[in-house]
Amino acid sequence: MKGLVLAGGSGTRLRPLTYTGAKQLVPVANRPVLFYVIDNIVAAGIREIGVIISHETGEEIRRALGDGSAFGAKLTYILQDRPLGLAHAVVTARAFLGGSDFVMYLGDNLIGHGIRDMVDAFRSDPSHAASVMLKEVPNPTQFGIAEVDDAGNVVRLVEKPKEPKSRLALVGIYLFRSVIFEAIDRISPSSRGELEITDAIVQIIALGGKVKFTRLTGWWLDTGKKDDLLLANDTVLDDWLEPSIEGQVDEASRTSGRIRIGRGSRVERSIIRGPVIIGEGVTVVDSRIGPFTAIGDAVRIERSTVEHSVIMSGSRVLDIPRLEDSLIGKRVVVRPGASRHGALSLMVGDDSLIELSTE
Ligand code: DAU
Repeated sequence: MKGLVLAGGSGTRLRPLTYTGAKQLVPVANRPVLFYVIDNIVAAGIREIGVIISHETGEEIRRALGDGSAFGAKLTYILQDRPLGLAHAVVTARAFLGGSDFVMYLGDNLIGHGIRDMVDAFRSDPSHAASVMLKEVPNPTQFGIAEVDDAGNVVRLVEKPKEPKSRLALVGIYLFRSVIFEAIDRISPSSRGELEITDAIVQIIALGGKVKFTRLTGWWLDTGKKDDLLLANDTVLDDWLEPSIEGQVDEASRTSGRIRIGRGSRVERSIIRGPVIIGEGVTVVDSRIGPFTAIGDAVRIERSTVEHSVIMSGSRVLDIPRLEDSLIGKRVVVRPGASRHGALSLMVGDDSLIELSTE
């Protein structure tokens, strides 16, 4: 069995962060979402993985994942010329996939559960032509939605229905046999101009194939927007953070809860309340950090309080009495201005969101 990870497309929902980087590389607890994806596929016993990349962010994805050996995988990069849909991505990967069964995994999906059971069940039961993962959602118009029968089969699927017949959303993890190519040959682009994998699965059913489903019982986080990303960060810090302190914490500092501090980082005269992850080469001086905060590499925080936030690498937070519920990109500087009469002086990129206290 092979793996196919979709890390192409163009990110719009997490602007402005995705102007300068791939959405699949946005960090959750200081690790790109895509790393958890590769880990999950490898943990299911699949090592040969194709990674769909785009012109815009392909190089950045390659740099982050390398040849895959760090994950115990062998990666093959496959350039999709334009983001023409998930089924188009599968066709683009046809030479790599050959006649193999494969797991297709959307590179921006984070789930709190492995896929090994789903993969093992598919391997041991050849009567199914495909298998999908489903989860009940409160907002079904924003997903591919499935109708299922009591025997555990999918009977109908619609992509982002206006009038959903169920709340069971397709989590972006699919298992296919090679009949998927015949099914894709039978579909045409949807109203959003994409070859939809959802429509291709409908065609598998029309061709007489059985499509099995697994319900995801654990969490599933869409890392699409700021609050989703903060929630993903909270959940991963809470569930998976393994404490370890490799950096230096001086005697005047206090720490509590689960904390991870990377190599070359220094914490001086500060209070760190876990769960908190601090990357490498970070300086924290006269500050309070946490809980539920992820600080990327080479960040500097001085005389500030930072709570429930994600601060990405190379940024500086200086003399800020209280920063919370914030998502700060790379190499950003947050500090009080030298301006008079309480005026704000800002330099902010396109599509940013600034919420100031009005107290
Ligand atoms: O998140 C689950 C949902 O993902 C499912 O419920 C939907 O049925 C499925 O169509 C998909 O919907 P989205 O509209 O959220 O997909 P998105 O365009 O965000 O693409 C998902 C991933 O695939 C993302 O990492 C980018 C990548 N991609 C996307 C397209 C359209 C590609 O690599 N190539 C593409 O052509």
